[in-house]
Amino acid sequence: LPSTNDFLGKLYNYQGCWYYPNTLQGVLNFQKGFKPQETDIILASYPKSGTTWLKALTVALLERSKNSSSSDVPHPLQSDNPHGLVPFLETNLYLNTSTPDLTKFSSPRLFSTHMPLHTLKVPFKDSPCKIVYVCRNVKDVLVSQWYFRCAYLQKEVDKSLLETSLDSLCSGVGYFGPFWENVLSYWRGSLEDTEHVLFMRYEEMKSEPAAQVKRLAEFLGCPFTEEEEEGGSVDKILELCSLRSLSSMEINKTGKSSNNMHNSIFFRKGEVGDSKNHLTPEMENKIDMIIKEKYNGSGLIF
Ligand code: A3P
Repeated sequence: LPSTNDFLGKLYNYQGCWYYPNTLQGVLNFQKGFKPQETDIILASYPKSGTTWLKALTVALLERSKNSSSSDVPHPLQSDNPHGLVPFLETNLYLNTSTPDLTKFSSPRLFSTHMPLHTLKVPFKDSPCKIVYVCRNVKDVLVSQWYFRCAYLQKEVDKSLLETSLDSLCSGVGYFGPFWENVLSYWRGSLEDTEHVLFMRYEEMKSEPAAQVKRLAEFLGCPFTEEEEEGGSVDKILELCSLRSLSSMEINKTGKSSNNMHNSIFFRKGEVGDSKNHLTPEMENKIDMIIKEKYNGSGLIF
């Protein structure tokens, strides 16, 4: 396994994707020990593509079909962070063991991952689980990642880290990189198996949120009834899961996740095109050329 350095340390390549050693151990533990259930739902993404939002929306959709919204019990999103509610397979559940206790997950079990589809699929093989992937414009992913890294390292926003992040994006050698392969694995998966793999885009979730949340609900097998639509259920879910609402919840303002990260680190601007405020024309050109080459013939257009 060739290794190379990233901003937090050495990276190792496994099945075409780069990981820090502890995450790689989590991937191996997962592949060895995970036992799929037919109703499992996996939320997948490349980091900084809208994972937190997708998790919140999915939790809210499923919670509504459990019909507990009318009870006195607080909504799960009020009492836990979306990442606490939908843990990552490789960096949370399987990080240190191939046999985590999953008994607290009721069906449908909700998990998340940043692994590419072929790596995720090893234990799932022909399991009819549902996979939802959220994809985001790579330039906004880069800028979001840059801010996240600065916040994680508790550093001032530092331009040199943007250059480093761009280099790692372009070379493909970065945590969970290459970006392009991650996206393409799920894009192709969604074309081959529309029933089990849903490909969503952050930009469409922003521009037509109601249509996208309905699409997600249908895919998950819990479509909105006419009654719910008339009662404003779609808008309520969108409001509950908006960046403004989630980031103002106490759990997300002051809480910390299991790996000791502040929950607030996952909420910033949540805008489309923020990269325009940070990337130089040269940086944009460099990325445009790679997009053209990597997505050529795939049918995927940014
Ligand atoms: P920005 O840094 O561009 O603001 P991830 O959840 O995959 O880590 O991605 C984080 C990005 O999603 C951040 O983007 C964050 O602000 C944005 N985000 C988080 N919650 C969101 C929400 N409820 N609605 C829209 N965007 C959200």
